[in-house]
Amino acid sequence: MLLKNISYFACLIAISHVTSAKFRVIREWNYVNFTWPSITSYSDALQQQKYIPENVIMAGLKDFEGFYYVTMPRMKSGVPATLTRISSGISANDTAPLFTPFPSWQMNELGNCEALQNVQNVEIDVFKGQIWIIDGGRTETLGTDPDIKCKPKLVIYDLRKEENVLSYTFPENVASFNGSFLYDIVLDNTDDGYAYISDNSGRDPGIIVFSLKERHSWKIRHSQSMRADPKASYFRVNDVTITASLNIASLALGPRIKSSEGNVILDDDREVFYAPLSSLHLYSISTSVLRNQEVAFHDGEYQGNVTDYGTKSSQTVGMLMDNKGMLYYSLLASNSIARWDSSTPFQTGQKIIAKDDRYLEWVNAFAFDGQGNLTILVNRLNRFIYDKFNLSEVNFRLIASNVGGKSYLYDERYNYHSENGTQSTNSITTSTEKPQNPLKPGTDQDPYLAPAVPDPTAEPSSESTITQSKSSSAPLSCLSIMVLFIVNLGVLFTNC
Ligand SMILES: *[C@@H]1O[C@H](CO)[C@@H](O)[C@H](O)[C@H]1NC(C)=O
Ligand SMILES: *[C@@H]1O[C@H](CO)[C@@H](O)[C@H](O)[C@H]1NC(C)=O
Ligand SMILES: *[C@@H]1O[C@H](CO)[C@@H](O)[C@H](O)[C@H]1NC(C)=O
Ligand SMILES: *[C@@H]1O[C@H](CO)[C@@H](O)[C@H](O)[C@H]1NC(C)=O
Ligand SMILES: *[C@@H]1O[C@H](CO)[C@@H](O)[C@H](O)[C@H]1NC(C)=O
Ligand SMILES: *[C@@H]1O[C@H](CO)[C@@H](O)[C@H](O)[C@H]1NC(C)=O
Ligand SMILES: *[C@@H]1O[C@H](CO)[C@@H](O)[C@H](O)[C@H]1NC(C)=O
Repeated sequence: MLLKNISYFACLIAISHVTSAKFRVIREWNYVNFTWPSITSYSDALQQQKYIPENVIMAGLKDFEGFYYVTMPRMKSGVPATLTRISSGISANDTAPLFTPFPSWQMNELGNCEALQNVQNVEIDVFKGQIWIIDGGRTETLGTDPDIKCKPKLVIYDLRKEENVLSYTFPENVASFNGSFLYDIVLDNTDDGYAYISDNSGRDPGIIVFSLKERHSWKIRHSQSMRADPKASYFRVNDVTITASLNIASLALGPRIKSSEGNVILDDDREVFYAPLSSLHLYSISTSVLRNQEVAFHDGEYQGNVTDYGTKSSQTVGMLMDNKGMLYYSLLASNSIARWDSSTPFQTGQKIIAKDDRYLEWVNAFAFDGQGNLTILVNRLNRFIYDKFNLSEVNFRLIASNVGGKSYLYDERYNYHSENGTQSTNSITTSTEKPQNPLKPGTDQDPYLAPAVPDPTAEPSSESTITQSKSSSAPLSCLSIMVLFIVNLGVLFTNC
């Protein structure tokens, strides 16, 4: 009852135009539970409501040296730890492992501003073995009365030496004490290291730049591209209606290595890709603009141009780019995952690589390991925000596939030529490629996950797909009564 041992792996329906991305469920949980120090500490936490299972949501994901690092933002009360890890890899007989607070229980202590308070995402410098943790400070952000005791900060922790490297508190004009919402982070190793962090704030959204060398941060604003598009503030995910104006959320960093007319170019001026959650557009801004502090002077707006690539078919919350410029991102309203080779035009180059109404309900995060495996975290945030979690059902899943890419972080040591043969399928998509037949659930599994005993009840059946799509085409009756006064991803979504 406590831990579910599941002896099957369900295979998702995947439609791929390039390589056949086969996604399989590798972990699944009804709710989050932890490796408590003792039975007493567990029962005390339950009794004192320091642990409320239905209030804990998994949000961010990274995969590094044998562990999945999973964040649990304190959007509601009763979240005992905000950064955790579990072992990654094929330890398949426990598919619902307990989460271990990371680096320790103490470093996750609620109300202690030295400790981690509210972590939405992390990034790991794979060469130095250091995890960069963005801590929004405020907790219970989904409630009417968020707790604003601690300031937003950035913490760097060395995973190999097991020690803190840095704790940096953002100044008020960069990440405001009670108005900011640090959402996502990408790392750029140029010039001793920069982090680009999205501030999903309702009042003052932007991209925060942190220079490790200078221990200094600033914020670049561009309202036209970083604020929500009112026309894209309303959408449905299965039978849940999302009515929200949400600003810039996920980020992806483009590779340093570029291929242009057959030549390989090394270029430190990279692109940071971003999209407001409430928007159909994908934008990018170059890192040379972000790194130029003068652009941020006087808390002003960037006056130059950003790149607008055009539109996607739905809103996006999770995204990740590999080291060859292949972008993976969620399409929330269609329960799908898309991929775009950034060397092709956006409008014609986007491909849906997996779609499933049941298994891909709110794809929130993506992570690469170093071996070409892409893991996807599905968290049903659409239900969580409306208190509709049913603890008798699976609410969280990790779904993985070997897509043959590596994180954008591997750009420096990536030898473009050495992989020319094995990776050629990834480089170009042409119109002659035909979509493959959808995979048959339960039969088409990658060999590396065993045991693979299909369980009929776990497979996405065509019936469930039909039922779901019926409900998602139901009349949009909420429109007439919706309220739009949304501030950010923590304080969001009006009910209707
Ligand atoms: C949570 O995990 C602990 C072990 O750390 C276990 O004793 C407890 O029964 C679990 N609770 C639930 C509700 O799964
Ligand atoms: C990742 O991919 C490699 C093959 O490239 C495979 O051997 C390994 O088992 C995969 N790991 C997981 C967790 O799927
Ligand atoms: C799971 O695998 C581990 C290591 O292979 C083994 O020690 C353990 O007994 C297994 N658990 C179950 C429930 O099969
Ligand atoms: C929070 O923000 C409001 C403006 O919206 C401001 O008046 C107030 O002083 C802020 N509180 C703190 C503690 O900074
Ligand atoms: C931005 O784009 C506009 C319209 O394309 C152009 O007129 C203007 O010169 C550009 N500004 C900069 C700074 O490149
Ligand atoms: C919760 O899920 C279980 C299993 O799917 C179902 O039997 C039950 O009716 C659900 N409860 C609610 C309140 O929807
Ligand atoms: C490309 O791959 C082929 C076969 O795998 C190899 O013979 C060739 O040397 C490679 N080219 C480069 C530039 O590495």
